[in-house]
Amino acid sequence: MFSPNRLTVSILLLFSSLVWSGYLEYNQDVLIPEDWTHVSRVNPTDELELTFALKQQNVNLLEEILRLVSDPDSAEYGKHLSLEDVSSLVQPSELTQKVVRHWLQTHGITNCLTVSTQDFLQCTMTAEVAETLLPGSKFHRYVRHGQTLVRSSAPYSVHDDVHQHLDFVGGLHRLPPRRQVLSMEQKHSKPGLHLGVTPYVLRERYNLTASDVGTAQNNSQAVAQFLEQYYHPADLAEFMSLYGSSFQHRSQVDRVVGTQGGGKAGIEASLDIEYIMSTGANISTWVFTNPGRHESQEPFLQWMVLLSNMSGLPWVHTISYGDDEDSLSTAYMMRINTEFMKAGVRGISLLFASGDSGAGCRHLSDKLNCFRPSFPASSPYVTTVGGTSFKNPFKISYEVTDYISGGGFSNVFKMPDYQASAVEGYLKAVAGALPPQSYFNVSGRAYPDIAALSDNYWVVINRAPVPWVSGTSASAPVVGGMLSLINDQRLLKGLPALGFLNPRLYKLKGQGLFDVTEGCHLGCLDEQVQGRGFCAALSWDPVTGWGTPNYPALLDVLLAE
Ligand SMILES: *[C@@H]1O[C@H](CO)[C@@H](O)[C@H](O)[C@H]1NC(C)=O
Ligand SMILES: *[C@@H]1O[C@H](CO)[C@@H](O)[C@H](O)[C@H]1NC(C)=O
Ligand SMILES: *[C@@H]1O[C@H](CO)[C@@H](O)[C@H](O)[C@H]1NC(C)=O
Ligand SMILES: *[C@@H]1O[C@H](CO)[C@@H](O)[C@H](O)[C@H]1NC(C)=O
Ligand SMILES: *[C@@H]1O[C@H](CO)[C@@H](O)[C@H](O)[C@H]1NC(C)=O
Repeated sequence: MFSPNRLTVSILLLFSSLVWSGYLEYNQDVLIPEDWTHVSRVNPTDELELTFALKQQNVNLLEEILRLVSDPDSAEYGKHLSLEDVSSLVQPSELTQKVVRHWLQTHGITNCLTVSTQDFLQCTMTAEVAETLLPGSKFHRYVRHGQTLVRSSAPYSVHDDVHQHLDFVGGLHRLPPRRQVLSMEQKHSKPGLHLGVTPYVLRERYNLTASDVGTAQNNSQAVAQFLEQYYHPADLAEFMSLYGSSFQHRSQVDRVVGTQGGGKAGIEASLDIEYIMSTGANISTWVFTNPGRHESQEPFLQWMVLLSNMSGLPWVHTISYGDDEDSLSTAYMMRINTEFMKAGVRGISLLFASGDSGAGCRHLSDKLNCFRPSFPASSPYVTTVGGTSFKNPFKISYEVTDYISGGGFSNVFKMPDYQASAVEGYLKAVAGALPPQSYFNVSGRAYPDIAALSDNYWVVINRAPVPWVSGTSASAPVVGGMLSLINDQRLLKGLPALGFLNPRLYKLKGQGLFDVTEGCHLGCLDEQVQGRGFCAALSWDPVTGWGTPNYPALLDVLLAE
């Protein structure tokens, strides 16, 4: 018989869940990709670690300060903040801290770590407690290539009392980031038909002389990698002995932050470290790697949390990782963008690879496609690096677009002022040849900002040189190393580090860079755009940004106060 009680109960449940709780990340993709296999539901007593992003104060002021300290025409240029300054600026209100802690305590959660800026809490709890704390969440274990991971198969909500005090909760949805490295097979290159990029080739092309190496005592640079793969110190040493004879360099990483596992070395892990240390030669180098410990961690988020908890960080960080904007919640991207601002006001330069799918393609419906921007490349507060290849593949020649180079317009972040006239110039110049307006968002943050070679690198992995490694994940450390060299010269002159580069970069209008004007990158394979995204043009473009570094010329213009 039909039970009125059941009905009443479910109506009440529905009602109470609407009134008493809300979703912080209503547009977060919660589907687990097919390459992850479901193992089981987690045991109620299994331990999880979740990260609570507490609402910060003065975010608008933070943004304004970032604009001032990064604008070379401002009197505040280079007046970077210490971590303590950032902390007093953004730390959550007493009320926010109290309400969130109280909420956690009433669920028996007391095992929490905080950070210097007080705006993250990392707490350990059992799965059972987590599911009560966050109604809707259902934790399962998944496996891929031997790596296991715990995620929620359904969206979580939070109690109405804390809703306004939190930006999001980490550890439920996002999977380990995708890397932007392409092997020869993926790129369909023809073996043997290329010169191959080595440190020598890069240093020739970008005009680095033997004396362009780091000398300042206190300079450092870092790569961040979030994979189940690791770089091997022996590979780095072998790489430098094979390719480093023409310049003074280091062959060892100075500091590894995180847990360096003992597994097989990966192309991805080796590439960044070998190349940032080739352009940023003789500069102390750090690696940020997997935080380890709990299966529920989001490695990228953990890295951002670390930055908020460490003073004395390297000045330049390069990261070769990205997700589709449309797979991430707006709440998450907005908050991570604020974290980028926090790094920027401290004088830290963050460089991200622009991605390896050109403009990307998203199938909206049967016949409807649009481009697919990627995050963090689309953040207005990082410097995004696109890819190029040599016009003549047998010679160190001028560079043209590498068709994989990620680029386009964000659907989440609006166009920052520093790039408005550059982008407008591009849109006007190529007006007749643009993809249809329905494919991209003309008011969004446009990227990349700068570029470097991304095609056919040599990398040493497991003691052996491997050719044909491609991707903008090579370009980012190459540019990062050169910015570190410029920082080095600035520090020697007593000048502040470059910090968030874009406002200054766009004011140079291409000075100090080789403009890349040829070639188009990938887009949707459909009738309307026929595989094409945007095309390079004179001056800035959403394929290669302002172009690639001509080191002595770039140093010259960036060494002025
Ligand atoms: C941040 O650093 C402090 C002091 O080093 C430490 O006690 C705390 O546990 C750290 N927080 C996290 C989230 O690791
Ligand atoms: C740098 O390299 C380019 C092309 O390889 C060359 O034309 C130029 O003269 C070089 N030197 C400087 C200082 O720009
Ligand atoms: C390499 O860097 C160290 C400081 O870290 C410096 O003392 C040394 O002179 C540098 N080497 C060269 C060739 O400039
Ligand atoms: C090096 O950096 C540390 C911390 O950032 C600072 O305390 C120290 O004074 C610096 N040393 C020099 C020589 O600039
Ligand atoms: C276009 O971008 C703006 C912000 O730059 C955003 O407000 C708007 O929703 C975006 N439009 C689409 C269709 O995504």
